[in-house]
Amino acid sequence: MKILVARDYQHMSRLGACVVTAVLKGKPNLVLGLATGATPLGLYRELVKLYQEGRLDFSRVTTFNLDEYYGLSSSDPHSYHYYMEENFFRHINIRRENIHLPPGQPGDVAAACAAYEAAIAAAGGIDLQILGIGRNGHIGFNEPGAALNARTHLIDLAPETILANARFFASIDAVPRQAISMGMGSIMKARRILLLASGRDKAAAVAAALEGPVTTMVPASLLQLHPGVTVVLDRAAAEKLHSVVKGGGTWPACC
Ligand code: GLP
Repeated sequence: MKILVARDYQHMSRLGACVVTAVLKGKPNLVLGLATGATPLGLYRELVKLYQEGRLDFSRVTTFNLDEYYGLSSSDPHSYHYYMEENFFRHINIRRENIHLPPGQPGDVAAACAAYEAAIAAAGGIDLQILGIGRNGHIGFNEPGAALNARTHLIDLAPETILANARFFASIDAVPRQAISMGMGSIMKARRILLLASGRDKAAAVAAALEGPVTTMVPASLLQLHPGVTVVLDRAAAEKLHSVVKGGGTWPACC
């Protein structure tokens, strides 16, 4: 696992964009796994900027998002479909047919989850998966639990996740109680993983994930078992790590 500690959120976003750029330059038909939440917004801004400057081409890229709230339509401003469109897709030259997110309102949940896994496999698997981390150590919407689902599935959100995500809704009551998420097995099959975290309120989850025991009670700790993980943190999110030289690490060549 390679851990980079950036000065601040903007620097974290730029380093994340460098990692994506390097992988995309090496494989123009990249299969890219995407995350939502506040954390990757800066990364998407950087990638859009690089595209607008003519330095990135998404015309052959295929994307798969980690998750979507269950029950929300894709036009709902709180949906991850909407988020991705607003913050990334409509600004770049990605082909519509290459964009994939779990459906928020599937008729048949099991069939939709199986179809999502099949689409990932048909695309050749995910080359690079971008991840954020929840305050309870979740990734995607894989909440802490005695056992974790391996594949895309419907999940009940943990109370702390509902509380954390209430900031994006009018009230806590408006936050969906369920989501469809890639499973830990889907995520761990990605060839490379880029985990981003920013802010002091993520420091405990980051330390538990990177330096604590590998346990389903901290889903992100499973990443310790993956051979191709790059973690980019800002200083505040790295605060509780013992093994990392803050401000150290080897920067990607483009930074
Ligand atoms: C949500 C998403 C996750 C994300 C997490 C952290 O629950 N499903 O993919 O990583 O929130 O979000 P934020 O970056 O806003 O802290």
